[in-house]
Amino acid sequence: MANDNHGPHGRLPEAFASDVQIENVSKSYRLPNGTDMLALDRFSLSVKAGEIVSLIGPSGCGKSTLLRTIAGLERPTTGKVSVAGKPIDGPSAARGFMFQDPSLFPWLNVRHNIQAGLVARGVLHGRRAEVEEFLNVVGLAPFAELHPHQLSGGMAQRAALARALINDPQVLLLDEPLGALDMFTRMRMQDEVLRLWRLRHVTMLLVTHDIDEAIYMSDRIVVMSPAPGRVERIITVPLDRPRHRNDARFFDLRAEILEELHFAGD
Ligand SMILES: Nc1ncnc2c1ncn2[C@@H]1O[C@H](COP(=O)(O)OP(=O)(O)OP(=O)(O)O)[C@@H](O)[C@H]1O
Ligand SMILES: [Mg+2]
Repeated sequence: MANDNHGPHGRLPEAFASDVQIENVSKSYRLPNGTDMLALDRFSLSVKAGEIVSLIGPSGCGKSTLLRTIAGLERPTTGKVSVAGKPIDGPSAARGFMFQDPSLFPWLNVRHNIQAGLVARGVLHGRRAEVEEFLNVVGLAPFAELHPHQLSGGMAQRAALARALINDPQVLLLDEPLGALDMFTRMRMQDEVLRLWRLRHVTMLLVTHDIDEAIYMSDRIVVMSPAPGRVERIITVPLDRPRHRNDARFFDLRAEILEELHFAGD
């Protein structure tokens, strides 16, 4: 990966991508009636450092549960997750999480939202230039003083993306981050995420319901079974980057995946 963006003076520091090993992870939840509900069933996946892997599967199959487990917000019932060889034992800024709803702090303006993680870790002082750099990268420099209620959905998503990336995550966990956006904003945001991925070379796990998004973005697509979630199939996307949305092979791959999901139609 080209190192064209790094350095101490207002340039983005290098993030170190890490591999993610998910080994035989099962997760069951205790329901109010006392029974256990299995959300993930012996899920295993090995994600290479710097890889983008998409997860697709029916609602309720455990995609968010899996991302939360990798984030360290949930503990697996059995099995384990490790990042760069270290077992996960709780949340860490090294694993950025972008939720479907951008969940910005409503009382902070855009700049303060983006730098919130640096403030929390007491490192803002040395990194103010980077905050400005990130505001530029996501095109929000002119809007730095606005509060979340004054932003469009796409702007809020870009602020959330910058907020996740400024903490130098080794792994970025994206839970349908673009689901609420209109098609054009969504395509622009996909390019934005890919551009930042090229700059930072971060490892990404992306939950999406959009097959085109999965093909456009990822190196591999994991198709999950209905609940309890298992790996049903892993499809490698054999397209070079940058990709073209109207490439014939793109359509072939989409047809293949729809067939796999039994949505190809009669
Ligand atoms: N905290 C919880 N307590 C009890 N059950 C839960 C909890 N979180 C998730 N579940 C259950 O686990 C299953 C998987 O949920 P999860 O949110 O991981 O699905 P998902 O694949 O992300 O679905 P969607 O595509 O709708 O977002 C569901 O049946 C859900 O009800
Ligand atoms: Mg979910």
